[in-house]
Amino acid sequence: MTLGILLVGGMGTRLMPLTRDTPKPMLPIAGLPVTEHQLMAAKRAGVTTIVLATSYLSEIFTPYFGDGSRWGINIAYAVEETPLGTGGAIKNAAAALNLPAGSDEPIVIFNGDVLSSHNLAKQIQEHIAHKADVTLHLTHVADARAYGCVPVDENGRVTAFLEKMENPITNTINAGSYVFHPSVIDTITANTVVSVERDVFPALVAAGKKIYGYVEDSYWLDIGTPAALLAGSQHLVGADFKVAATSQIAPTAQLSEGTSVGQGCTIEGGVVIRGSIICADVHIGAGSEVVNSFIASGTRVAANTKIIGNYYSNELISPLNL
Ligand code: GTP
Repeated sequence: MTLGILLVGGMGTRLMPLTRDTPKPMLPIAGLPVTEHQLMAAKRAGVTTIVLATSYLSEIFTPYFGDGSRWGINIAYAVEETPLGTGGAIKNAAAALNLPAGSDEPIVIFNGDVLSSHNLAKQIQEHIAHKADVTLHLTHVADARAYGCVPVDENGRVTAFLEKMENPITNTINAGSYVFHPSVIDTITANTVVSVERDVFPALVAAGKKIYGYVEDSYWLDIGTPAALLAGSQHLVGADFKVAATSQIAPTAQLSEGTSVGQGCTIEGGVVIRGSIICADVHIGAGSEVVNSFIASGTRVAANTKIIGNYYSNELISPLNL
């Protein structure tokens, strides 16, 4: 039995307006919500029960995921009336795991906006072997300025948590997947806004707790910006395209460069779509061209419209700054 908590309650402000009606973890990547990709990865690593820590637009998750039986994993839900931050969310969700006092059961925690193919089962094994308090997945990025840096010593122990900075001292960053000993959750105050990155981890390091890094540089992407969301979907789909079974694509339409099309769409003749995410129930009129763009659910695109590098819905069209 391995237990998990998936943090899906953030406001996703960097993805507004895409996140106005859809929480960031429910946005589609290669035709499936980000959360669904993460649940499948958790299951592959042996996670049997997972709590979705929800807050913003919490009502969207339950109708889609239910009790998790469709994915062969038990899903429970925790709701924060007002967002408690990543640490407060973990504390709130852990109550739903009903762990007996004194348990050593590792708890796996995932940021809900990360696509990662790292070996989670190995991360859990190392955590157990080290008898660690926390084991974080760390990865390397070319430019670490947008991330918190996490230096480790020669034994793999984390020495500090550093805020985003102009001249990062290392390009080793927190990749957003943690294994916790349950006692770490006891250190978080209930019903209080707490950040796991800014409050909990630095306090644990200062207290000399055993915080280890599990460093692996396999595919990893934080999908928190429009450009990254599109890139993640393109990467997963590949050079070609992916279309949901209930969509109708005219024979003369051309789809390519990792385009994905959700359920119930109609794509008319002569339409060209490259590198784009087309959500559900979208109609694209004949002769239109859509490139590196995100078309929200229910959008009707008139014939002969050009949408290049934008996100687009019935009411909104805004530049992506790609
Ligand atoms: P931005 O506002 O664009 O930064 O996005 P965000 O709100 O998702 O914040 P961030 O990227 O820092 O969050 C990392 C992960 O933690 C995401 O999966 C969020 O859904 C989740 N998260 C952030 N804050 C909270 C919170 O207060 N409660 C819960 N349950 N999850 C949170």
